[in-house]
Amino acid sequence: MTAQRVNVAIVGGGLMGREIAAAIQRWPALIDHPVRPRLTAVCDINPAALEWFDEIDTVVTKTTDYADILADDSIDVVYVAVRHDLHEKIYSDVIASGKSLLAEKPFGIDGAAAQAVLAVMAEHPESFVRCSSEMPFFPGAQLAIDYVKSGALGTIISARNSFLHSSDLDVTKPINWKRQTQFCGEAGVMNDLGMHTWHVPLRLGWAPESVYAVLQDIVPTRPGPDGTPVPCDTWDNAVLHSWSRHEGVRFPLTTETKRIDPGQKNTWEFEAIGLDGGVRFSTKNPKSVQVFSVVDVPGGSREQVWQQIDVGSQSVWPTVTGGIFESGFSDSILQMWAAFLAERHGSLGDRFGAARPEEAALTHAIYRAAAVSHAEARAVTL
Ligand SMILES: NC(=O)c1ccc[n+]([C@@H]2O[C@H](COP(=O)([O-])OP(=O)(O)OC[C@H]3O[C@@H](n4cnc5c(N)ncnc54)[C@H](O)[C@@H]3O)[C@@H](O)[C@H]2O)c1
Repeated sequence: MTAQRVNVAIVGGGLMGREIAAAIQRWPALIDHPVRPRLTAVCDINPAALEWFDEIDTVVTKTTDYADILADDSIDVVYVAVRHDLHEKIYSDVIASGKSLLAEKPFGIDGAAAQAVLAVMAEHPESFVRCSSEMPFFPGAQLAIDYVKSGALGTIISARNSFLHSSDLDVTKPINWKRQTQFCGEAGVMNDLGMHTWHVPLRLGWAPESVYAVLQDIVPTRPGPDGTPVPCDTWDNAVLHSWSRHEGVRFPLTTETKRIDPGQKNTWEFEAIGLDGGVRFSTKNPKSVQVFSVVDVPGGSREQVWQQIDVGSQSVWPTVTGGIFESGFSDSILQMWAAFLAERHGSLGDRFGAARPEEAALTHAIYRAAAVSHAEARAVTL
């Protein structure tokens, strides 16, 4: 099979821009992928950020103006990783250029921005658009999703999806754009981490019917550039208690996004418990998935049992990596890109895909409901 050549450009060469650039270099690890991406161009307004990309010899264009990327007919796909207040304009411009877009979450700074991007998409159906959310591509997460889809849980009693950090435990950590409403958005930590906790529930059909939110702004100021305290006016932690429905039966779904959860470093957790079975996965123990069932044991009794499955390296797209080897964050990024480009090519089939724009837009409606819920101390219907 001859793979389809796709030229990729990155706009925003910061933390995530570099991560994606590195992941694409590992593309040969994928077996029989129908697409062969090549990173050819990078844009960052900060020339110093562009220097790192000298590491990658396929990069022929380095620019400080993304208009150069949009004007380049050789580029097929653009990945954009910039501040949230810049999403609407840059995503809209990429889509209007006809190129495909892998957008970063939260897909616009708020619901109005997300809707504006959807409106541009409607005018440019030739642009294939998805939103970044890589944690569900851990093999353990895939096993948990498939376990739920298999029906093994029976009637669902409860489910939880969490994304937990402790990156802000140090109150002397200087302010950055992610901690300021004007750049991050009023949803604060939900804008930062919420997509990670809603991608799987929404894909399982668990859009919430109502939300009761508990939001915390734990550290209200942080040192500014000269050390003087400046407002750190975003929510640090958000716990959303929702009612969702699985096969017609209502159940409580909890999503947690926390910047300050002592002991956690990028921990993504998923749990779903039903009358017939249960499943749990945490990236804290990335090899291990726990499943629950009631089993017959020798002696004639029936017992409740949590069992542990060691998952290996294989996720949505097969790789040359030994099946028993461990998987990590950069593997999940590679798998998300494999799914994104396979879906764009029309070859993903029924495998798990990157987050859809409508799902990302729905997360903003959920965050808005959460803000109202918190302000008025009541559950809000969606
Ligand atoms: N998927 C994930 O796990 C994950 C993790 C972290 C961040 N993110 C998301 O990625 C996006 C970027 O976050 P980050 O941590 O990479 O930020 P960052 O601050 O490290 O990098 C952003 C880069 O964008 C550049 N930039 C700013 N304006 C620009 C413009 N007009 N044109 C080109 N470049 C411009 C900046 O100079 C900077 O280098 C955000 O949407 C964030 O929520 C996703």
